[in-house]
Order: sequence, then structure tokens, then C-alpha cells
Amino acid sequence: MPSVVKINVLTVPEEMRRELEKRFASRAGMVESADGFEWFELLRPVEGSDRYLVYTRWRSEEDFRRWQESRAFQAGHAQAAAEAGAQGHGHGQTQGHGHGHGHGQGGPAATDSELWTFEVVESTGPKQDG
Ligand code: HEM
Repeated sequence: MPSVVKINVLTVPEEMRRELEKRFASRAGMVESADGFEWFELLRPVEGSDRYLVYTRWRSEEDFRRWQESRAFQAGHAQAAAEAGAQGHGHGQTQGHGHGHGHGQGGPAATDSELWTFEVVESTGPKQDG
């Protein structure tokens, strides 16, 4: 079974970038211990897009689904979900779109979000020595 890549695409106004990155930094460890977790990267746009990519890779769709339903995920996203007025906790398909009104320090830094799903077809890393 190929791994599955879940990318949460966040639209973040220029003036909220630092705040967003700070929030991610302070939530380090939120995903690493999840069963089936393989990779996480927060990708800052440089050119061609103004959207951040929250790249995550999982052993299976099922592992991702379990993490999304876990306390770890829901606690970590509770504030954002509340601010976005979603009746849930950012479950991929029905996730709330953050409204991002007020761009203050309090509400969500992202004004919109979208979940992309990919299967890993091929993957290569650097050559190992020895
Ligand atoms: C691919 C899986 C993920 C999904 C579906 C997801 C869902 C979301 C959604 C919908 C938002 C936007 C809420 C808003 O408008 O602010 C958000 C923001 C955020 N997520 Fe995730 N997330 C994922 C992965 C992660 C991971 C792995 C981490 C931590 C390592 C994380 C931490 C955060 C933080 C800190 C925010 C910023 C909240 C803000 O805007 O201030 N998320 N996520």
C-alpha cells in the first residue's frame, strides 16, 4: 500500500505569516507520536503562490483519519475551529473555512483552508553512505 500525503492548504495574509509560524512552532510534537505518521513539513510560499502548505504523510488513509479524530488533533485545532465557526474540529472534508476577520492576534491566522490528498507514487531520498 502506498503512503498517503495530506496537504492542508492555508491562505495566510502577509501580516499574519509570523503569527502562523509561531503557532506551528509552539505546537511542535502534536503529530509526531501519532500511529502511522511518517512526515510533516510546514512550507512557506516563496513565489507562485501565497498559500502555506501543511505537508503530512501517513502510512494509510486510516491512520490519518484516526489522527484527525484524536484528542491531540482536536485539542491542537480547537481554537482555530471555534474561531472559524465550524461545528467540528477541522475534519478534512467538512472543515470550516477560517474567516480571519479582524486579523488580530486572537483569531485564526488563516483566512481559508483546503485539504488535498495524494498517493505517493515514487519517492527518493539522498544516497546513503556505506
Ligand atoms: C493535514 C492535516 C491537517 C489538517 C486537515 C489541518 C486542519 C487545519 C485547519 C482547517 C486550519 C485552519 C484553521 C484556521 O483558519 O486557522 C489549521 C490551522 C492550524 N493547524 Fe492544522 N491541520 C493539519 C495538520 C496540522 C499539523 C500537522 C499541525 C501541527 C504540527 C497543525 C497545527 C495547526 C496550527 C498551529 C494552525 C494555525 C491556526 C491559526 O490559523 O492560527 N495542523 N489546521
